[in-house]
Amino acid sequence: METIRRTKVVDLLKRTDVGAQVNVKGWVRTRRGSKQVNFVAINDGSTINNVQVVVDVEKFDADLLKLITTGACLSVNGTLVASVGSGQAVEIQATEIEVLGACDNTYPLQKKGHSMEFLREIAHLRPRTNTFGAVLRIRHNMAIAIHKFFHEKGFFYFHAPIITASDCEGAGQMFQVTTMNLYDLKKDENGSIIYDDDFFGKQASLTVSGQLEGELAATALGAIYTFGPTFRAENSNTPRHLAEFWMIEPEVAFADLHELMDLEEEFIKYCVQWALDNCRDDLAFLNKMVDPGLIERLQGVVNTEFVRLPYTEGIKILEEAVANGHKFEFPVYWGCDLASEHERFLVEEHFRKPVIMIDYPKEIKAFYMKQNEDGKTVQGTDVLFPQIGEIIGGSVREESYDKLMARIKELNIPMKDMWWYLDTRKYGTCPHAGFGLGFERLLLFVTGMTNIRDVIPFPRTPRNAEF
Ligand code: 4AD
Ligand code: MG
Repeated sequence: METIRRTKVVDLLKRTDVGAQVNVKGWVRTRRGSKQVNFVAINDGSTINNVQVVVDVEKFDADLLKLITTGACLSVNGTLVASVGSGQAVEIQATEIEVLGACDNTYPLQKKGHSMEFLREIAHLRPRTNTFGAVLRIRHNMAIAIHKFFHEKGFFYFHAPIITASDCEGAGQMFQVTTMNLYDLKKDENGSIIYDDDFFGKQASLTVSGQLEGELAATALGAIYTFGPTFRAENSNTPRHLAEFWMIEPEVAFADLHELMDLEEEFIKYCVQWALDNCRDDLAFLNKMVDPGLIERLQGVVNTEFVRLPYTEGIKILEEAVANGHKFEFPVYWGCDLASEHERFLVEEHFRKPVIMIDYPKEIKAFYMKQNEDGKTVQGTDVLFPQIGEIIGGSVREESYDKLMARIKELNIPMKDMWWYLDTRKYGTCPHAGFGLGFERLLLFVTGMTNIRDVIPFPRTPRNAEF
């Protein structure tokens, strides 16, 4: 076969130099046609769009043509021609075809329209579907948007460790990391495991958040963000929880509650606008096939001002709704941790726009949040989104050594693990604030997908670590 430099489909479809000799490589999506002429749709992942290859049957060997089946990988040389019917401006009139990888009829993606559940069982192949190709390209674009946003604002990308000995959220949902022989654990007289001989010489886990290390960095570099894998061993099998997810955690020295909320709002809007500007074809596809309100909802968020709502007022609204006959599964009262049905009621039915809820009761929030004068609430912020519920959790941090210590004691957090964190409050402490955005929650919103398992390549959930 003649060597012609490969053109990606995304670039090929933009070309206008009909008559040029071109090469494409990719996977067969469909093949149709008559005895004389076949139309083969090829996709190489560079775009949701396929290029149509026109095959004059009599010019090719019958045995070769037999191998052009759905899923097969081809290299095609041909002439770029103006297209009449493919929905694209150009197509390829094939001159030479090589089958790089044949694909027999056991290939599970034969026909279109598989259920999401079925596709999860073949997560190793689902990136080859239109929907997952679109999701994965958008996922990449959102990662780029995140780095661009923070870089342009002068934040430094800071790498917090993945293996850690501290439980940032204090929720005890950590996966342990050990090299000990689990069949032969050394224990002390009380039956507690002795970690002295373990790899790190103490109990270690996978991080639930890079925030504590992020605070160290922010109180040195001024403004940083982390963006990395995060692990939670919470046994919640919901469409919004993963055991392994990615989190973005900016942390800013000298920021107060209002600057924090401004940053949260600006950041999300930037990412959503980036998707609207840079993922048009993929969003158009998802809007058509998955969620007809998608693009309108994305535009809505970019153009709307988020509501800023104290928790206490939020509870009043929910209590009024209950008094007016609205049924929630979980009870509403001052002090309750809002369930996603409550959050969604506020966002989807009451305000009909994103809500930043602030000033939560301290009992339902983590130890590091800045305590308000009332002694009851803390300067936590949750950003609540339509369809998603909580997309961001953040707070102003308690910068007073004494107040922080008091809270740590109240909550019985083991002090010896926290010494390095407390040093920030001991040596030149400063007001600072930050938040965590769940990357997959953002992707749920931007893609219109409804299950978090479908916006990450290989979801990790309770009883599932396949692939
Ligand atoms: O609200 P969370 O637990 O806050 C923190 O971890 C803070 N340390 C963040 C900070 O202030 N730097 O988690 C932050 C966000 C949530 O709002 C949610 O979007 C996401 O992380 N998240 C999850 N996403 C997927 N699966 C899970 N199990 C998640 N848990 C939290
Ligand atoms: Mg939270």
